Amino acid sequence: MANNEDVFKKIVSHAKEYGFIFPSSEIYDGLAAVYDYGQLGVELKNNIKQYWWKSMVQYHENIVGIDSAIFMHPKIWKASGHVDAFNDPLIDNKDSKKRYRADVLIEDHIAKIEDKIRKEVEKAAKRFENFDEAMFRSTNARVLEQQAKIDDITHRYSEAMNANDLEAVRQLILDLGIVCPISGTRNWTEVRQFNLMFATQMGSVADGADTIYLRPETAQGIFVNFLNVQKSGRMKIPFGIAQIGKAFRNEIVARQFIFRMREFEQMEMQFFVRPGEELKWFEYWKETRRKWHLALGISEKKYRFHDHEKLAHYANAATDIEFEFPFGFKELEGIHSRTNFDLSRHSEFSGKKLQYFDPELNESYTPYVIETSIGLDRTFLAIFSYAYHEETLEDGSQRVVLKIPTILAPYKAAVLPLVKKDGLPEKAQQIVDSLKYDYMVQYDEKDAIGRRYRRQDAIGTPFCITVDNQTLANGTVTVRERDTMQQERIPAENLNAYLHGKIQPLSH
Ligand code: GAP
Repeated sequence: MANNEDVFKKIVSHAKEYGFIFPSSEIYDGLAAVYDYGQLGVELKNNIKQYWWKSMVQYHENIVGIDSAIFMHPKIWKASGHVDAFNDPLIDNKDSKKRYRADVLIEDHIAKIEDKIRKEVEKAAKRFENFDEAMFRSTNARVLEQQAKIDDITHRYSEAMNANDLEAVRQLILDLGIVCPISGTRNWTEVRQFNLMFATQMGSVADGADTIYLRPETAQGIFVNFLNVQKSGRMKIPFGIAQIGKAFRNEIVARQFIFRMREFEQMEMQFFVRPGEELKWFEYWKETRRKWHLALGISEKKYRFHDHEKLAHYANAATDIEFEFPFGFKELEGIHSRTNFDLSRHSEFSGKKLQYFDPELNESYTPYVIETSIGLDRTFLAIFSYAYHEETLEDGSQRVVLKIPTILAPYKAAVLPLVKKDGLPEKAQQIVDSLKYDYMVQYDEKDAIGRRYRRQDAIGTPFCITVDNQTLANGTVTVRERDTMQQERIPAENLNAYLHGKIQPLSH
C-alpha cells in the first residue's frame, strides 16, 4: 500500500494534470511557494468561498461582509503589533547554507516522536488477543516515556520563546541532536527573528515614498472599518464583519504545496461583543465552526482542536482546528478571543475613538472580539486530499475519483453523447443549453464512454448524463452517479429538477 508521502505526491500531480493547481510562473521554472489555480481549481475555490460566505453572512442576520484594500496605512501594522512582533525564529545550517524555521525543526522532531508512539500503539493493537499484563506495562512505559519527552520539549520551547531567549532555542535544537536534512550536520548558526511582512514603496519617487506592507492578514481591514460598518449598517452588538481576501507572508519554510504559501487567501470574521461576554462567544464560535467543517461530510476523526497554551499578545483564549492532511494533523483554522486589543490600539494610534454606545446598558465601551480565521487554500487542500480516492473496480480495473461534496464540485454534470453521429451530439448540446444557466456543465464527445466516465470521476463531476438512441426515441437519458456508479434512466426534461434535488446547499 502506498504510504502517505506517496499519496500526497499523487494528489499534487493530480491537481496539476487535471487543471486544478499549477506552480506559478512555471515556464520560468516557478516561484517558490506561489501557485496558480487552473480552470477547475478556480471553480472549486469559488464554491468553497461561497459556502463560507453564505454560512457566515447570509445565514447570520447580524453578520455583514466587506472587501477592504490590500494596501493600508503603514501605521496600522505598527498598531497591530506586526511591525515589531510578526516574526519567525530562523536558523541557518553553515554547511548546506540552508535556512530553517527553528520552531519547524522542533515541530518535525516532535512529529517523529509522535510517530513512534503511534507505531507502538498499533503494534499493541495487533497483538491484542494475546496481550498479557507484562506486555501492557512495558508498552505503557514506552509510550509514557516518549510522551514525557514531547512535554519537556514543548515546555522548553515555550519558555524560551516567552522570554525571547533565542540562544535557549538554539540550545534546544543542539540538545535534541537535530541535523540539517541536506547536509546531515549540526553546524547551526545563532537563531534570529525575521519579519514576515512584504514591504514595498508607495509613490513614484523612492526618496519621498512611504514604506507600506502587503497585508499579512485580512483582519486589520475589518478593525479599521469597525465604526464605518457599525454606523452605516446600524449594527447592534453582538455583530460580526466578514471578509475574504488575499494575504501575504514571506514564509521561510514554504513547503507542503498550498499548505504554506507566500500569497494566499483568508476567510476571516470578527465578532464584536460586550466586554466580559467574550468567552461565552468564543465557545459558541468553536462549536459553530466545528459544525461547518462536519457539514462537508468529512469524517469527524479528521479534525481535532488544539487549544493554545502560549497565547498571542492580543488573545485571552485561542484554539486551532487542526485537520489530518496527508502529512499529519496541521492547523486549518484559528479561533481567537482577541480582547479589545486591536480596537484600543487603533484608537491610540489614529487618535479616533473606536467605541460603541450600548443602548441597553446606556454606556460606551470598546467591544471585545472573537475572530474566526480560516485559510481558503488550506480548506481547498483539506477537501481535495480527502476527496482523492484510488479504487479497484469489480472487473479489476482502476479508477481515480474525487469525491468532492456535490455542491462544491467544479462541474455538476457532464453531458455525453454515446457516439459522435446519428444526431446524438446535437441532442446532447441541447441538453447542455437547457442546464447551463443553472449549473456548470461540461460537454464531452471524445473517446469511448468508459474513458469519459473515468475523466469525469477524476475531476469530481457528480453526474454523467448519457445521450443515446433511446433519447431520440423516447426523450430519456441515463444519469450515472459518480460515487456509486449506479445508473438510472430519467426523462431529459426532468434533468433540471433532478439536479436541483440532488445538489443541496450544505447546512449546519
Ligand atoms: N487574523 C488571524 C490570523 O491571520 P493565522 O493563524 O496567522 O491567524 C489564519 O492565520 C489562517 O490562515 C490559518 O489557520 C491558515 O489556515 C491560514 N494561513 C496562514 N498562513 C498561511 C500560509 N502561509 N499559507 C496558507 N494559508 C495560511
